Amino acid sequence: MKVSVIGTGYVGLVTATCLAYLGHDVACLDIDEKKIEGLKQGQIPIYEPNLDQLLEDTKKTNKFPIFTTDPKIAMEHGEIIFIAVGTPPKENGEPDLRYIEACAKTIGKHAKQDCIVINKSTVPVGSGNWVYMLIEQANPKLNFHVASNPEFLREGSAIFDTFYADRIVIGADENFARAKLKELYKPLIEQSFTPPNYCPRPHGQAHIPFISTDITSAEMIKYSANSFLAMKISFANQIANICDLVGADVTEVMQGIGTDSRIGGKFLNAGIGWGGSCFGKDVQALIKIAEEYDYNPELLYGTTNVNYKQRNLVIKRLQDQMKILKGKKIGLLGLAFKPNTDDLRDAPALDIAKALIKLGASVSVTDPIAAENCKKQNPDLEVNYVNDPYELAQGKDALILVTEWDEYRKLDLEKVFRFMGGSKILLDGRNIYSPVDAKKIGFNYISIGR
Ligand SMILES: NC(=O)c1ccc[n+]([C@@H]2O[C@H](COP(=O)([O-])OP(=O)(O)OC[C@H]3O[C@@H](n4cnc5c(N)ncnc54)[C@H](O)[C@@H]3O)[C@@H](O)[C@H]2O)c1
Repeated sequence: MKVSVIGTGYVGLVTATCLAYLGHDVACLDIDEKKIEGLKQGQIPIYEPNLDQLLEDTKKTNKFPIFTTDPKIAMEHGEIIFIAVGTPPKENGEPDLRYIEACAKTIGKHAKQDCIVINKSTVPVGSGNWVYMLIEQANPKLNFHVASNPEFLREGSAIFDTFYADRIVIGADENFARAKLKELYKPLIEQSFTPPNYCPRPHGQAHIPFISTDITSAEMIKYSANSFLAMKISFANQIANICDLVGADVTEVMQGIGTDSRIGGKFLNAGIGWGGSCFGKDVQALIKIAEEYDYNPELLYGTTNVNYKQRNLVIKRLQDQMKILKGKKIGLLGLAFKPNTDDLRDAPALDIAKALIKLGASVSVTDPIAAENCKKQNPDLEVNYVNDPYELAQGKDALILVTEWDEYRKLDLEKVFRFMGGSKILLDGRNIYSPVDAKKIGFNYISIGR
């Protein structure tokens, strides 16, 4: 099928490349000329494991997508048009919909008759109607359909999450759009495609459930799913803080509850909390929706408050141990909001670094992938960038593990200990090291809720 994708960020580019790999003819539109120029050469502007290889593989079947900044070329191409532009939060917590609005106008101006416009961006309830209205205003003569297809991929495992999704949700108010989308996703739903060898089909992978709803429910599913996951982590963190008070071990407690099939063991890791482009933004957006209806979403407020307090907890723990942070040398292991991505949106590392600098500490940082992005995006952040964890450890009073990259799980902690100076504090913000081993080496080891 002929598909157009507007926005070549984490979601748009992964969607476009996966659909091209599955055999569809894809055209991608972005306003970022540099990005598009690079993509034409097969250069991926983000860090996403194997995405470069997948894009390269589309050449084997002559399905390498068209990359363009020309809306006419991109819009005249697709019978299905995905909107996958950003919906970042505004100061007041509401999502900024100006990019969606621009897309709607572009579609109205250039799209072909009977196209189906699918919102993949995460948007507030009612956006389907709003996008419909904007397109209609831009071109009253255009016959078109609007549907919602919320995206659930995780950065770092985005190809896997697309090929072997837990479900595909389609919100549509009429059958035509629903049937077309079912056809588009048929190779995924039926798992009939040949997987690339770097993303093999998991043993026992069954058909992917196709969940069909009205547009409003699809929009609510996305916000509810992210809010629930964020709430699970905040719950684990709240329990961790109580564990600290009573002397229990939160990892054992979470194992004890997570094995209950009604609860499930995922997203119960206590630590310094979630970050990233989605959770904070989507929980805030759902809060705003509830407030519009004069409803008090207490669980959502709690979810957010607990999360951001965890970042301060790190500072508090260091103050408890070191008393004065002024003049202390502190290293942060990890900058990305989670492993396997270069994404720094709402990354806890940034808040922690800023708070430490404000208190007069000298802060050094390292990250296997996200350091370059951090330099570019935060030119005023007064930190020293170093190449690896051992260089980071040299002469530091304290190290804080912020992002649980695999490399950091495998650190030679004895070597790290030897390189450190001062009070030899290892603050494990993700509970990845064994307290017994770390203490045996001699660290003043602090973790969350253990
Ligand atoms: N990143 C994730 O893990 C994730 C997961 C699920 C859902 N989402 C949602 O998907 C949406 C996209 O997120 P993302 O992380 O891919 O964003 P992103 O910021 O990485 O990418 C957005 C892209 O859209 C382009 N763009 C903006 N306006 C445009 C326009 N008018 N025409 C063409 N291109 C335009 C930008 O240049 C950019 O390349 C958001 O609503 C987000 O909440 C993201």
